[in-house]
Amino acid sequence: ARVIFISPDGDKTEIEAECGSVMELAVEHDIEGIDGSCGGVCSCATCHVKVGREWLARTGPATDTEKDILSFEDNVDERSRLCCQIELTDELDGLVVETIAR
Ligand code: FES
Repeated sequence: ARVIFISPDGDKTEIEAECGSVMELAVEHDIEGIDGSCGGVCSCATCHVKVGREWLARTGPATDTEKDILSFEDNVDERSRLCCQIELTDELDGLVVETIAR
């Protein structure tokens, strides 16, 4: 699936991968603003992104565990997700996520 990362400045980076999480993909390709410090176990919030509005129905909302972690972050809204919790699937081909300025 292709994922399009949009930086706070509006720069777009498109990356394609077969599987894994959006966080893994971002870290592998040095996407700024996504550190994945906890390795994807939903405990650090360094993978906070905002899902493109048109994709929300397909990614679904943040889980309760994500919400707990996100409650310590600034700039959180209904599009906020921890992207280590978004697994790539064919259904998400073309997914747009916005990274957060740090
Ligand atoms: Fe730590 Fe996602 S990588 S919460």
